[in-house]
Amino acid sequence: MENRIGKRPIIIAIDGPAASGKSTTARILAGKLGYTYIDTGAMYRSVTLKVLRSGLLDALREDTGRVSALLDGLQIEFRGDRVFLDGEDVSAAIRENTVSREVSFVSSLKPVRDRLLVLQQKMGAARGVVMDGRDIGTVVFPEAELKIFLVADPRERAKRRHAELSLKGGNSAVPTVEELEEEIRQRDRDDEQRTHAPLKRHPDAVVVDTSCLTIDQQVARVYDLAAKILEG
Ligand code: DC
Repeated sequence: MENRIGKRPIIIAIDGPAASGKSTTARILAGKLGYTYIDTGAMYRSVTLKVLRSGLLDALREDTGRVSALLDGLQIEFRGDRVFLDGEDVSAAIRENTVSREVSFVSSLKPVRDRLLVLQQKMGAARGVVMDGRDIGTVVFPEAELKIFLVADPRERAKRRHAELSLKGGNSAVPTVEELEEEIRQRDRDDEQRTHAPLKRHPDAVVVDTSCLTIDQQVARVYDLAAKILEG
């Protein structure tokens, strides 16, 4: 597959629920196209880390407006596949369970979404990006030339998460597939039911069900759709 960066660069928006294969697909696709990959989930995780470190989490549950103080001067940057929060490499820290547990709450706050929306639109302004998240095709770049909505059966997603966590090892016990499936279903409900920018398919988004696809197959499916637009 040739690098198509020389053609008119486009924006590729990939949305979908947790563990549907978005980040793997988006990262590989961006590499093939010579595009920049922007993981917006990592941005919400970075803000969540900042909230946790500030000790303000409980106060925010009572008064969400207090989050604004943490957003002034917030800097999030991608360098290669590393993410930097206010100049610090937080790529590992944002994957900790403490962050995963609170990210749905923090990402539901309007000031947080408003701030990250501005950052994401700036990052994609030059086009030539693959951006994945929950609201990229609906809110951040509704004008994206290619919008994908990746889905997969919750059981299948739980199995993938389980394999990923087992591979990672570490000291903490890996939750069972059943426990992970319940967590995934809960996160789907939280992401779909929140007031601001809920997870929702844009009417133009192409649905790709990855339940029975290998990574190569899902990347090829999206690459073909992008190639059609780039050649058109
Ligand atoms: O993709 P992820 O699992 O790392 O995302 C973490 C959380 O961030 C997810 O529960 C929902 C939220 N998120 C969001 O609200 N909007 C986005 N564009 C990306 C992620």
